[in-house]
Amino acid sequence: MTNSRWEIFWDGLVKRMLFWSPLRPYLLHKYRYAFSPAQLARLTTLATEAARTDGDFCEIGCYRGYTTVWLNRHLNAIAPHKRYWALDTFGGFVAADVAHEQQTRGKNSAADARALDKFSINSRRWFDRTMALNGITRVTAYATAVQDFDFPPATRFCFALIDVDLYLPTQAALAKLWPLLTPGGLVVIDDCQTRHVYDGSRQALEEFAATHGLTFDVIENKLGVLRKPA
Ligand SMILES: C[S@@+](CC[C@H](N)C(=O)[O-])C[C@H]1O[C@@H](n2cnc3c(N)ncnc32)[C@H](O)[C@@H]1O
Repeated sequence: MTNSRWEIFWDGLVKRMLFWSPLRPYLLHKYRYAFSPAQLARLTTLATEAARTDGDFCEIGCYRGYTTVWLNRHLNAIAPHKRYWALDTFGGFVAADVAHEQQTRGKNSAADARALDKFSINSRRWFDRTMALNGITRVTAYATAVQDFDFPPATRFCFALIDVDLYLPTQAALAKLWPLLTPGGLVVIDDCQTRHVYDGSRQALEEFAATHGLTFDVIENKLGVLRKPA
């Protein structure tokens, strides 16, 4: 679509005004992904692999939708018929999950306190508008703690990205999603590096794999990958 001369004029004027205002950070492009380019590349490849299997996609802990947009732009190209479920509190961590990190997992430093206080400036409306801005219609967002959400029993997933950082919600997400995963499908658990403020994700994955007799890989330093045998 070609913009008219007036549209180009107003667009330029607004952007120049923003540049010279305190709103400059909102104008300039900033890399906002929580994943490196190499990690995004691996996520994309894993999505392609999973999309060959029956079932929907889901992301537990979608925050403002950065990775949701990325993966859905890819789905537009490879599997446009897939549904995509996006869950988040849209208000940051749950108090009981944070208390568990502090009281049971010893995350009590000042740096831990900052990390456990992130992601609270968010809104499901912002998320939904972000999808609309990017022309994405297959995503349904649910504002809920994963512990409180029951997937309809007939739901089937081929791909799940669990990105909730802490032990309790990762444990809950794995328990809920694994039975719904189609054989040949896979789960990616973010933050599986050891000795890290968010290493509760890794602990939940290790325990889940041991209980179910599964093995997992950790790729690109932090993406845990659990495959359901075909
Ligand atoms: C690291 S961010 C997710 C980033 C997102 N996947 C992306 O790549 O842009 C973690 C998200 O998990 C959400 N979260 C934390 N605990 C949760 C819980 N118990 N249930 C649902 N969402 C939770 C937070 O609100 C936050 O938005």
